[in-house]
Amino acid sequence: MSFFPSRRLRRLRKNEKIRDLVQEIRLSPKDLICPIFVQEDLKKRTVVESMPDIERLPLNEIVKEVESIVDLKIPAIMLFGIPAAKDDAGTSAFADNGIVQKAISEIRKNFGKKIVIMADVCLCQYTTSGHCGLVKENKIDNDSSIATLAKIAVSQAQSGVDVVSPSAMMDGQVFAIRQSLDDTGFSDVAIMSHSAKHRSAFYSPFRDMADCAPKFEDRRTYQVPFTNPMESLREVEMDINEGVDIVMIKPALAYLDLIAETKRRFNVPVSAYSVSGEYALVKGAAKQGWINENDVVSEILYSIKRAGADMIVTYFAKAGAKILQD
Ligand code: PBG
Repeated sequence: MSFFPSRRLRRLRKNEKIRDLVQEIRLSPKDLICPIFVQEDLKKRTVVESMPDIERLPLNEIVKEVESIVDLKIPAIMLFGIPAAKDDAGTSAFADNGIVQKAISEIRKNFGKKIVIMADVCLCQYTTSGHCGLVKENKIDNDSSIATLAKIAVSQAQSGVDVVSPSAMMDGQVFAIRQSLDDTGFSDVAIMSHSAKHRSAFYSPFRDMADCAPKFEDRRTYQVPFTNPMESLREVEMDINEGVDIVMIKPALAYLDLIAETKRRFNVPVSAYSVSGEYALVKGAAKQGWINENDVVSEILYSIKRAGADMIVTYFAKAGAKILQD
């Protein structure tokens, strides 16, 4: 005779239907945001070894790619550009005929309201230094950088973007972008900031993909140290005060505590960016046959949602949407 004969949690696990009924966290393709890399002057789709199954796309493949994403019922894409030329001022990032600007107009023209177009706002792919801000006397200069980030955001807005997503981790970037968008008649363009973007070793495959590794030193003078959770939350708070619409915690899996804390403390939509290194870990282990890829992907995406993310930027968006539809 047990002490508490009526306490049996296994009753609600007895078959699939009853498990469905009591499922607490639901994940659907509608929670996902699919990154896309588009490269200027590229002739055909190109693979990058450290990010298996993710390709750099030429502009003329964009419509086909977005179509496959729309078909999977994924509501949003996140565009990253790889320009043909870099310079000190990162001018190709805000050129009217820049690669991201062209991709945005092309997608807008073909898909109208069928997809939310988000675009990365940063400088590292576009500057010779590979840094996310402009360099002055060997330092990353905050205030000239945010002026340029605001120009990038406005040029994307002119091309038809829905959401700009600054990832440079410059102080005041959200304020500068919000002000410029409002001043130029784009008060309806939203900002999803990489609010607490940590200085992380999980970004290296992305740097292969986007060709944006810093040419001197690293990003620790602007990205948040992973040892400082209160500082991460201060970053989130600052972005909210500057008028951000959606905050982001990045990376995701090693930062679930911060996703949870952000959701608890603040009354704004929270996104999580499951970054390239997280993707590479799973792909690498799966390739060896050491884990079941689909099961692990599902468990990881659910864990990010369970932590409190309202949406997830993930390289598993398409694969995840297929798993979730089955
Ligand atoms: C840079 C940027 C990075 C990522 C997104 N934007 C790399 C970095 O900060 O070095 C990383 C994303 C990923 O790893 O998937 N603006």
